[in-house]
Amino acid sequence: MMFNKEKPALVTGGCGFVGRNLTRRLLKEGYSLWVVDDCSIGLHCDKWLPGAEKQRVVTNGVIEYDGGRVIFIHGDARDFFAGRTELGALAEPEFGDVFHLAAIVGGRSVIDGNPMAVAQDLALDALCFNWAVSRKPARLLYASSSAAYPVDLQGKDGAVALKETDIQFGGRLGQPDMTYGWSKLTGEYLARIAHQHYGLHTACIRPFSGYGEEQDLAYPVPSIALRAAKKENPIVVWGSGLQGRDFVHIEDCIEAALRVLSRVNDGSAVNIGSGKLINFREVARLFARLEGYEAEIKPLEDKPVGVHSRYADISHMTKVLDWTPAISPEEGFGRVLRAAHERKARGL
Ligand SMILES: NC(=O)c1ccc[n+]([C@@H]2O[C@H](COP(=O)([O-])OP(=O)(O)OC[C@H]3O[C@@H](n4cnc5c(N)ncnc54)[C@H](O)[C@@H]3O)[C@@H](O)[C@H]2O)c1
Repeated sequence: MMFNKEKPALVTGGCGFVGRNLTRRLLKEGYSLWVVDDCSIGLHCDKWLPGAEKQRVVTNGVIEYDGGRVIFIHGDARDFFAGRTELGALAEPEFGDVFHLAAIVGGRSVIDGNPMAVAQDLALDALCFNWAVSRKPARLLYASSSAAYPVDLQGKDGAVALKETDIQFGGRLGQPDMTYGWSKLTGEYLARIAHQHYGLHTACIRPFSGYGEEQDLAYPVPSIALRAAKKENPIVVWGSGLQGRDFVHIEDCIEAALRVLSRVNDGSAVNIGSGKLINFREVARLFARLEGYEAEIKPLEDKPVGVHSRYADISHMTKVLDWTPAISPEEGFGRVLRAAHERKARGL
């Protein structure tokens, strides 16, 4: 069953980039939901939730929208999972689908520059799975990441298309990418334990580089798009620009995530990627071409860049999900460029 709408869904991190897109899609599919987000990065529901005008404040920090179809807990998911959130007259329902997206992510500068802040994701995930094995929601999706993959498979020489079996619980795990990768690897392990020892339906996704129109400018695709929208020449890129990623549009990410939850129940992980490696010079050139000019590329060698080449082997994804991404880089980047023009018009 693709959608489980009998009971409300729970989306942690529902105000973030992935979370907003997922929440809107779930509402379109007819779900009712609870969203938990402390808005440390995410945007308050008032700013983006369809129909946000119809609201009622339940307690300081809990808002009901659309006659109760959406309950927004504006607070720390760790408190929610530990039962410390003041819900007033509301009772926590039995949840159907749970989408656990809340995490400190923040792009490369945070992953490399503040690894101990990111390590708090370990506490967040541990509390989530403890809550889940006692509350027993129907299904739980854990947002892992391609950062869980061993970094030695992503170096300058001999980078390979990363396949799910490159991480073997009980075999080779390798060295994931910083505390961010370690926490995602541990979260995946907890998803497996939750299934094997507690019978929970759990599934993990390993998205590669998700991008989209409303992504924060801390991420490379929207920020390079803004440089192209301003017709900058040269366009600066971080590092040599020869480091590459596998870009997947957020709409495709959401479709894939929903498919994973409906087709995987044992806590195992599925890649979400396009299978194509594109380096940042190519990203900048594509944006310039879409904008209608030829640009020189200027590398910023002192900036953090992460691993050299990270891209997905999508054979398992294609088989399990019976699906491949629908949005090409040209189409997706074109949409991001239009959004960059709107940002430019707002003076960004
Ligand atoms: N965007 C991608 O391409 C991508 C790739 C791989 C994995 N992921 C994973 O998907 C998830 C969502 O990523 P995103 O890109 O939307 O990031 P994001 O930073 O936009 O969203 C994360 C959200 O979690 C919230 N949050 C952080 N700590 C919290 C806490 N303690 N309690 C409540 N809310 C909290 C933030 O305010 C934010 O809204 C993350 O788990 C991330 O690791 C995303």
